[in-house]
Formats: sequence, structure tokens, C-alpha cells
Amino acid sequence: MAFPVRAGQVWHSMMPDATHDDISHQAFVTTMMNQMGSMMPGNRVVYDHVVKPKFVRQHKREPNNVHEVRKAMLREPYTQYWSSFKRCAKEMQYMSVGPMVERQLPELIERAKPRKSDLGTLSLDPTIKCPRYNSEVEIHAKPGGYHTDLTKDDVFAGAEFDRTFFVFTNGGTGKLNGRSGETMAAWLKKTHPNFKPKKILDMGCTIGGNTLPWVDAFPNAEVYGLDVGAPCLRYAHARAEALGKRAHFVQDDAEHTKFEGESFDLVVSCILMHELSYKALHNVFKESHRLLRKGGLAIHSDQPPFRTKDMVEQFHTDWDTHFQAEPFITTLGLTDLCDVAQKGGFAKNKIDEVFVPLMQNREFYMVTAQK
Ligand SMILES: C[S@@+](CC[C@H](N)C(=O)[O-])C[C@H]1O[C@@H](n2cnc3c(N)ncnc32)[C@H](O)[C@@H]1O
Repeated sequence: MAFPVRAGQVWHSMMPDATHDDISHQAFVTTMMNQMGSMMPGNRVVYDHVVKPKFVRQHKREPNNVHEVRKAMLREPYTQYWSSFKRCAKEMQYMSVGPMVERQLPELIERAKPRKSDLGTLSLDPTIKCPRYNSEVEIHAKPGGYHTDLTKDDVFAGAEFDRTFFVFTNGGTGKLNGRSGETMAAWLKKTHPNFKPKKILDMGCTIGGNTLPWVDAFPNAEVYGLDVGAPCLRYAHARAEALGKRAHFVQDDAEHTKFEGESFDLVVSCILMHELSYKALHNVFKESHRLLRKGGLAIHSDQPPFRTKDMVEQFHTDWDTHFQAEPFITTLGLTDLCDVAQKGGFAKNKIDEVFVPLMQNREFYMVTAQK
């Protein structure tokens, strides 16, 4: 089926109508994000030529962790300017999309209601509580986070995410916000040509952008997307139907799901890890191990670990912890996911780290573990 493309993105029937001014506002935010990105090399100049020499003069050694670097960098006017600019751009991103969704919310809710003719399913469970590590802050500055229902049968958080995810990355997430899933599936097919999963689970699926590439990659598989956020899942289900893809969306906690043990061949996640607390991270690997059949594979992807980044790159990621409500992104950067996988029950010789090119010169980091 051919879908219209607008402002670079597939405009399927669950997307809210966008006026000229909506698109223009969003394009302005994308330009701001690019501008902010073009300032990032300046932070390296500040570090190399101002911050580090000053630190060495004072302490007779170089900074040896990201916390020292952050404290010193944030005293510098250039970095302060970049920092304010980045935070404003992030807030403006939501401001450029939110009103477009809000003014059409009743209609979107109506469109999203499950129907008998649907290809896939939606299973909500109101007893599932959003964990504190996501509910105590407006996670990555997203108003209301992923879980807040503004009204009955709400889809706001999902509809807003579908557009902001694309705008924020300047379209780097792909026309269907599925580039990470496509990348993972392509890697899996290339490196494990005989692996044919029959049942696949995507943990922390949000709107299913990176769940649906698994439907395309393995058309005979039963594909599940799991999340704690009901407004995202309602939208995910309706979006999958709008795109003509069969997937099952379930409200559950990835730390302890209701699925039976050994019921999946493949358990995946995209950028879920950095949103989990340290304890939850361990629980999710343990749960992945429990859910997999013998020979099954877990692939969890997120930002590369700090040991692969220099101090300025670490500083840029750590900034999100302090100024963009990503409380655990630094914790993840400093955690050895292979060790977490091992503690979760996977054998050391069945755990691997994989780096693949993703988008806009960014690398994609995955920890794979076979049961
Ligand atoms: C950054 S988003 C993931 C984006 C999505 N995977 C994608 O690629 O488009 C993180 C998601 O994880 C969900 N989440 C956080 N903790 C969770 C948990 N314990 N169980 C299930 N979902 C969780 C959040 O509700 C949110 O939708």
C-alpha cells in the first residue's frame, strides 16, 4: 500500500492533520536542533583549549571522569549558551507538535478504537503502574511522559511521539520511525541466516515504530510490542492497523511480564535500556532470559558505553541526565551490559557486543545474548 509522505514522514491515517503553520513550526525546530548540533564541536574546542588546561593547572592531573568534566564545562559561557539552546530546542520540539495533536484529540481517539476487523490486538491492563524511574520526572522532557492519560482512551502521548521522534532527529529515525528496528533485523538476517523466530517480543515499544520492522522481516512470526504506557499502546495498535501490519500490543512491565517462560524466540528493545533504573536494567535482562526458549536470542540496543567515548562525547550524553530528564542515561553509559546479561542468566560465551552504522554518522550499539 502506498502512503502519502509529508515533511519527510509517512503520513498514515493515524497522524493528525497538519496545517502549513504546524509543519513550518516543526521545520523551525529541526533547524534549531541542527544549529545546536553544529555547536557541539565548539564544546570540544572549549574542552581542549580552556577546560582541560585550566583543570590540569589546578589539579596537576587531567579530569578522569565525566562528573569532573561536566562541572568544569558548565562554567564556560560557550557551553552554557549551547546548554540553554539545547534545552530550549527540546521544549520547542514538544511545543511544535503538542497543539497539533491536542486540537484533534477527540477525533484521533475515535479513530484509534480497536475494531473487530483488526489484524492485530491491543491488551491493556490498568493494574500496570508506570515505574518510578519513568513517572517521577517528565522523561526526556516529554510533557506527561509516556504513560499519562489526559482523558479516557487517550492517545496523546503516542500521537505526539510519532511526530516529535522524527522532528527531533531531523528524520534520522526514517520515514516510519523504524530505522533502528530495520537495522537490527537486517543485522540479524545477515549474521544468523538460519535463525527464523516464530515469536518476537519488543520491550518498551512505545508506538511500535521499531516493532513493525520485525513484522516485515519475519512475516510468519507473531510479533508483540510491550510497554507500560497505555496512551502509547492505543496509538501503536491503531498505527499498526493504519499501516496494514499485524502486531499485538500489550501493557505490561518489562521487568516482570505476564508471559509464560520460554515463550519467545527473540526478545528485542530499542533505546529502552537508558530509561531503566540500574535495578530494572538487571531485571529486564533476567526477564529476557526467562522468556526465551533454548537457542532464543535477546538483542537490546541503546547508546554505546562511555568506555567507547572520549570525555567530550561522554559529557554530551551526561548532559541529558542533568538537563533533559534522562535520569539513568549516565548510569547506563557506565554499566557493562555484558556483565548485566551474564547476571541475568546468559552464559558468558553466548554474549556479544555489536556496533553497526545507524544514522547521521551515529553508531548503533547492541548487546546480544543467546540462551
Ligand atoms: C525511549 S522509549 C522507546 C522507544 C521505542 N522502543 C522506539 O524505538 O520507538 C522507552 C519506552 O519504554 C517504556 N518503558 C519504560 N520502562 C518500562 C518497563 N519497565 N516496562 C515496559 N516499558 C517500559 C516507556 O513507557 C517508553 O515507551
